[in-house]
Amino acid sequence: MKLYRAKDYKDMSRKAANIISAQVIMKPDCVLGLATGSTPIGIYQQLIDWYNKGDLDFSETKSVNLDEYKGLPRDNDQSYYYFMYNNLFKHVNINLDNTNVPNGMEPDSDKECQRYEKVIADLGGVDLQLLGLGHNGHIGFNEPDEAFGTITHCVDLTQSTIEANKRFFASIDDVPKQAYTMGIKTIMQAKKILLVVSGADKAEALYKTVCGPVTPQVPGSILQLHNNVVVVADEAALSKITL
Ligand code: GLP
Repeated sequence: MKLYRAKDYKDMSRKAANIISAQVIMKPDCVLGLATGSTPIGIYQQLIDWYNKGDLDFSETKSVNLDEYKGLPRDNDQSYYYFMYNNLFKHVNINLDNTNVPNGMEPDSDKECQRYEKVIADLGGVDLQLLGLGHNGHIGFNEPDEAFGTITHCVDLTQSTIEANKRFFASIDDVPKQAYTMGIKTIMQAKKILLVVSGADKAEALYKTVCGPVTPQVPGSILQLHNNVVVVADEAALSKITL
């Protein structure tokens, strides 16, 4: 695990965007694993900026997203497809046919999860997986549990995640209670992983992820066992870690 200290959110976003852009430049037809949440927004803005300046070309790039709320259609403004479309896809020249997000409208969980695993396998796996970190140490929507969830599966969201995400919905009752997410095994099969973390409210989760025991109670802690993980975090998020 390599840990890079960024001064603040903007610096974190630029450093992480540099890593993603290096991936796209070195392998234009790479498979990017993408993430939602507030943390990656600055990264996507930076990538869009470099695309507009002619420094980046996504025409051959493929993407797979980590997760999607079950029950939300793509055009719902809280769906993760909608997020990706509006925060990245529509601003760059990625071919939408090459972008993949779990289908939240497929009611048959087994069917959708198997389909999504096959999509990833058929693409040859993920070259670079971008991850944010939940306050409880979750990655994707892999919540703290008795065991690590393996492949893409349907999860019941924890109360803390529902609480954290209610800010985007009209009321807490509107927050979906389930989601489809890549599993821990799916994530760990990515060739490279880029974890981005910002803010003092994530300091405890980042400390447990990086320095704590590897345990399904802190899903992100499994990343300690991956051989190619880069963490870019700002000073506030790193405040509990002595480098
Ligand atoms: C959601 C997403 C995660 C994300 C997390 C943190 O639960 N499923 O992929 O990492 O939120 O989000 P934020 O970056 O907004 O704190």
